[in-house]
Amino acid sequence: MDHPVIGWEQETAVPDGYAFNDYLSARGGYLYYEELDLARLLMGQEPVQVGRPLASPLEVVYLPKIRQKIAQMRAVFAAVIDETGYPGAFHYAYASKANAAAEVVRTTLEVGAHYEMSSTVDVEIARRMIAAGHLRPDCMVICNGFKPPGIDYTRSLIRLKREHGLVIPVVEDVDELAPLIDSGLSFQVGLRQKSYGPHQDLGEMEAANSRFGMSVDDIHRAAEIIAAAPNLELKLYHAMVGSQILNERDFVAWLTPPIEIYAQLRQRHPGLSIFDFGGGVPVPMTLDFQFDYPAFVRRLLTTLQAACARHNVPAPDVLGEFGRYTTAEHGAHVFDVVAVKENASALPWYLINGSIMTSFPDTWALSEHFIVLPINHLDRPFRRVQLGGITCDSDDVYPPKPSSSPLYLPVESRGLYVGFFGIGAYQEMLGGVRGSKHCVLPEANELVIDRDSQGRYRFEIIPGQSSGDVLRNLGYCDVETKGQGDKETR
Ligand SMILES: Cc1ncc(COP(=O)(O)O)c(C=O)c1O
Repeated sequence: MDHPVIGWEQETAVPDGYAFNDYLSARGGYLYYEELDLARLLMGQEPVQVGRPLASPLEVVYLPKIRQKIAQMRAVFAAVIDETGYPGAFHYAYASKANAAAEVVRTTLEVGAHYEMSSTVDVEIARRMIAAGHLRPDCMVICNGFKPPGIDYTRSLIRLKREHGLVIPVVEDVDELAPLIDSGLSFQVGLRQKSYGPHQDLGEMEAANSRFGMSVDDIHRAAEIIAAAPNLELKLYHAMVGSQILNERDFVAWLTPPIEIYAQLRQRHPGLSIFDFGGGVPVPMTLDFQFDYPAFVRRLLTTLQAACARHNVPAPDVLGEFGRYTTAEHGAHVFDVVAVKENASALPWYLINGSIMTSFPDTWALSEHFIVLPINHLDRPFRRVQLGGITCDSDDVYPPKPSSSPLYLPVESRGLYVGFFGIGAYQEMLGGVRGSKHCVLPEANELVIDRDSQGRYRFEIIPGQSSGDVLRNLGYCDVETKGQGDKETR
């Protein structure tokens, strides 16, 4: 396929029972997310209904998907470890920058994921999770991000260490060590290699144009400082090489120079026992996605094992910081098609009651593709269209401007709902939560869905913004909290 597949690509109706991927299927003209009929859920008709009709636009957050993704990745590692006899363990960490919503972080911690963070506010999130009993004493808190002496983040993670034993700062720069040494607290620490990008060898890795991590010389220098410090122990080596890396061969090839450095470092520093490959594990955001997870893990573990054998050191535990992989698929966003405009443009415009560019900033910033499907009318004929957001911005369109991916939606546009899928990672964090957005559109309501151990659904509605919320946020202080300006706009 020469383009990302973002939806149905034919003029004929979607056959009943057709599965678009492992969680979206067409049944009786409606789109199901696993067992949930999204349109009837929205209209308040689904047998497991929320209790009332829900207005669109609506963000849908499906927490069981997060547990499923974590379980699947653990199963892949367990199977490959079993098959290859790899002697180390696998640790799953959630990279919270992908989606820091309380229900998301809580869900990952409840199933025993470790917590990866990068800022002061993340520390506060961790403290709340500790207080609520979700972040347990055996959970590693991996502290990435810049932490030079004297900034809040550095101070707050040192404070966090007094409350939680397993706080592991990952040092980005030799200067970051001084505050840890001066704290007098016993820290296990990590060192981050400057390894970002498609490098094939050590020379290319060292020349990478990246502000993250340290050169090989600085890594060795930092390791010696740690060895000489009475309160520090080198525990982890971090080498992130990119994001959404779609080829398992490339992924491990880029990790190979850092793996060599790990093995050399381990010869001098016996406390070192975790190889952290960072993020980068891809997830299906379109329907043509192909990535062989077992092949990636097999290649990674055998490369690690071979390098460690050559350097005569034990193979390490392996840790991944999964951001996009954990959260992309648990999120969906549903809109109404409010108008169809045929004005001699190349394709008819289907206009939706929200903004594509503020809801999914990567569509216009990076020309990123996401899955777009109708929620109803799947049993009707389709036609090729383009989607427009309700703002007046010429970039508020989908597919992204340079894309050649066709988008087909039902010809019948009356009462049509359209869903964006695979949008649960980064989009909300980049677009911002609350605040005021482009063309002052209020934020959508959010429906958080979970299932208990008996499979019963639990729903929580997090109200979006009223126009009063947006006005007050912009300094229109005359708008009373529950006054005229608060009239719901959706
Ligand atoms: C240090 C670090 N770890 C993990 C991640 C998560 O990456 P991904 O979303 O590709 O899993 C990021 C993302 O930027 C990162 O900067």
